[in-house]
Amino acid sequence: MKTIFSGIQPSGALTIGNYLGAITQFVELQNDYHCYFCIVDEHAITVPQDRLKLRENIRSLAAVYLAAGIDPKKSTLFIQSEVSAHAELGWMLQCVAHIGELERMTQFKDKSHGKDGVTAGLLTYPPLMAADILLYGTDVVPVGDDQKQHIELTRDLAQRFNRKYNDIFTIPEHRIPEVGARIMSLQNPTKKMSKSDDNEKASIFLLDEPKKIEKKIKSAVTDSEGTIQYDAENRPGISNLINIYSSFSGKKVDEIVQQYEGKGYGEFKQDLADIVVQALKPIQERYYELIESDTLDEVLDEGQEKAHQQAQKMLRKAKKAMGLGRVR
Ligand code: AQP
Repeated sequence: MKTIFSGIQPSGALTIGNYLGAITQFVELQNDYHCYFCIVDEHAITVPQDRLKLRENIRSLAAVYLAAGIDPKKSTLFIQSEVSAHAELGWMLQCVAHIGELERMTQFKDKSHGKDGVTAGLLTYPPLMAADILLYGTDVVPVGDDQKQHIELTRDLAQRFNRKYNDIFTIPEHRIPEVGARIMSLQNPTKKMSKSDDNEKASIFLLDEPKKIEKKIKSAVTDSEGTIQYDAENRPGISNLINIYSSFSGKKVDEIVQQYEGKGYGEFKQDLADIVVQALKPIQERYYELIESDTLDEVLDEGQEKAHQQAQKMLRKAKKAMGLGRVR
C-alpha cells in the first residue's frame, strides 16, 4: 500500500476551503492508502499565536479531523510537536535548502509582505514541511492548490539530499482535488479563503452557525451582471460560489448553470446557503460530541506513538547519511 501524508495548521478555525481542498480528499483516500494526518502546530508558530488559543485550536482541529470522517483505525492522526523527528529532520533539510529558493515561495512573500518582525521560521518553514512528508516515505501528498509550490520544493530537497548523501527519500507527488482545490474569499474573490483572514465575513468556518453561514453567503461579493454563469477570470465572485455549490452538492458546474438559467443571485445564494448548512450539520454534531471526550486524547496518544516509531527509522537513516552523531 502506498503512503499518504498531509497536515493542517492549527492557526485558526478551519474554513470550508481547508475542508474542500484538503479534508474531503483525506477521508476518501484513507481507504486505499497508508495515511498519516498531522496537526502541524510548529508551522503555526511561524506567525504570532496566542498560547492558550493555539492549544484550543490544536484540540479543535483534532476533533474536526475525526468529525469530518478521519477514522483512527485506518489513519494515524497526531500532533507534529509531539514527534520530535520532524524538528530534527527539518533542521537537517534547512541545511540542504538554499535561501534563494525559500525567498521565492509565494506564501512567504504573501505572509511577510509589509509586515514588521517577520520571523526566520516563516522563511524556513518549507524545509520543515519537507521533513514532515519525507519522514514517512510518503508517495502522495493531498493538498489544496496553494500548497503545490511547497510540494515541488519538497521534491527538489529530497532529490538534492538523495544525490548528495544517500538515496533514502521517496520523491512524493502532490494530489490536488478536481473541485474545491482553491476556494476564494467571499469578500475578495481574487484572494484565497484563509482561516487567518482578518475579515470574518470573508470565510465560512466549518463550525459557523446556520444563520451566520446564510448571512455570509448573502453578503458575498458578486458583480452587477446578475446571471449565474461560470467565468473564473472575469466573474470571480459568482464563479467561486458556483464552485462551492458544486463541491458540496456533487453537481457539475454546467448542470448548476443550467439549473439557474433565468434566475437571480437571491435564489441561488439562498439555495447555496441551505446546501452548505446541510452538509456541515453532521460534522458540527459529531464535533460537539467529540470535543469534550476522552476519545480525542486516546487517538492522539496512539497516533503519537505510531508516528514516532515510523519517523525514527527515517531519521536514523538521514543522520547516518549526513554523518551526524556517532557510528553505532
Ligand atoms: N482556500 C482554500 N481552498 C482550497 N484548499 C485550501 N487549503 C487552504 N486554504 C484553501 C488547503 O488546506 C490545507 C491546510 O492548509 P494549512 O492550514 O496548512 O495552511 P494554508 O494553506 O495556509 O491554509 P489557510 O487556511 O490559508 O491558513 P492560514 O490562514 O493560517 O495561512 C492545505 O492542503 C491547503 O492547500
